Amino acid sequence: MISGKMEQALNEQVKYELYSSYLYMSMAMYFHGLSLKGFANWMEVQAKEEQAHAEKFMHYINDAGGRVVLQAIDQPPADFKSPQQVFEETLKHERFVTGRINGLIALAREENDNAAYAMLQWFITEQVEEEATADEFVNQLKIIGDNGHGLLMLDREMISRVFVPPTAAAN
Ligand code: FEO
Repeated sequence: MISGKMEQALNEQVKYELYSSYLYMSMAMYFHGLSLKGFANWMEVQAKEEQAHAEKFMHYINDAGGRVVLQAIDQPPADFKSPQQVFEETLKHERFVTGRINGLIALAREENDNAAYAMLQWFITEQVEEEATADEFVNQLKIIGDNGHGLLMLDREMISRVFVPPTAAAN
């Protein structure tokens, strides 16, 4: 049975995962405005992944005998300076989420909650990947700089990303 403290902390995490989805959807709309369909597609897939993260937490709370209470989600920024700045913001945000997951792990240890601890391990691996991907795009966009041709080439690559539900990919 989940403790009240853990239930509350995981409910808060649901909010952050849904905010992440909102943020990436906003970034996708920014890219649509620039006619960068590949970048927009990439961010739309990212938004779906975040929704799936929220669902993973919600299902866990239910399975552990807790109650999901959805909270208000903040408004994400609507304007960005450049594709590079978008990925810098993405990296910053993912580092923040990693900090939150680490905080949840510390709480699971404190509460001697082995089930929550085990569930959170999946997110640790996921965060390493998410930070690495955002960092890679920041670096590639730095190399591209003002080269429109390079930007369009990357855009063409990003159109091929498809959403794979995390439950099918790994659990
Ligand atoms: Fe759900 Fe991008 O962390």
